[in-house]
Amino acid sequence: MVEALLDVRNLTKRYGDFHALNDVTMKVEKGSVHGVIGPNGAGKTTFFHCIAGTTPSSDGEIVFEGRNIEGLPQHDRPGLGIGRSFQVNSLFPDLPVIENLRLASQALEPIHGFIFWRAVVHKDIDQRRAESVLHRLGLDGEEQTLVRALSHGQQRLLEVGMALMAQPHLILLDEPTSGMGVDDVPKMINLIKGLREECTILLIEHNIRLVSEVCDTVTVLQAGAVIAQGTPEHISQDEHVKSAYLGEEL
Ligand SMILES: Nc1ncnc2c1ncn2[C@@H]1O[C@H](COP(=O)(O)OP(=O)(O)OP(=O)(O)O)[C@@H](O)[C@H]1O
Ligand SMILES: [Mg+2]
Repeated sequence: MVEALLDVRNLTKRYGDFHALNDVTMKVEKGSVHGVIGPNGAGKTTFFHCIAGTTPSSDGEIVFEGRNIEGLPQHDRPGLGIGRSFQVNSLFPDLPVIENLRLASQALEPIHGFIFWRAVVHKDIDQRRAESVLHRLGLDGEEQTLVRALSHGQQRLLEVGMALMAQPHLILLDEPTSGMGVDDVPKMINLIKGLREECTILLIEHNIRLVSEVCDTVTVLQAGAVIAQGTPEHISQDEHVKSAYLGEEL
């Protein structure tokens, strides 16, 4: 039997009477690329917030590597092996690329983050890790470039790199190609394909072509509920999914 790295059971998130997530159950297999798709407002980002601990859930269980992490604070989750890149840009534009990556690695030890001795002891390790992440992103040679001078596509790649610094077992990518030009999208696709060697990927994406190309399994959310799960081929033939996307590209 294939092992579930993440096992979400009956997850619900309420804002007052409104259900942003309603009884969501899904398993993410270790080593897979798992897509989460759905129309705007379906609850995809809310789902990531609950897994990352940014938002407390209202009900249900989030079992990661066999342990129920529901209720654990956000700052404990990178140390558990959960990393994420955000839908909204989360970089430090006035710092060089390499400093952004070094700061990201400090998320691993939030209690000691930003204190002097840690910075000294870990500097070499962080530097080596940052260089290897830069290579993976195809950004060798951009170490000292200020983030604001990178193209939008490069910034999106760097955001994934920020999450990689903590060597996550599971990485959550929220619309990594949003705003990217068509020429840059293949770079993100290659990055995601290469990442599966080292971690499991949970990916929110509106670009259905990308989802079909990189995902093993897809979960479709609509109005906070799971309406379909399966392979990309299976999902693209599903009548519920087709009607959820009425008027949008599928
Ligand atoms: N803090 C909040 N308070 C109240 N409602 C919220 C809050 N955050 C999200 N919602 C609502 O929950 C629903 C799901 O939002 P969410 O951002 O998870 O959707 P999404 O699937 O990521 O959409 P998109 O594709 O546009 O990014 C939306 O109706 C949204 O307005
Ligand atoms: Mg969203």
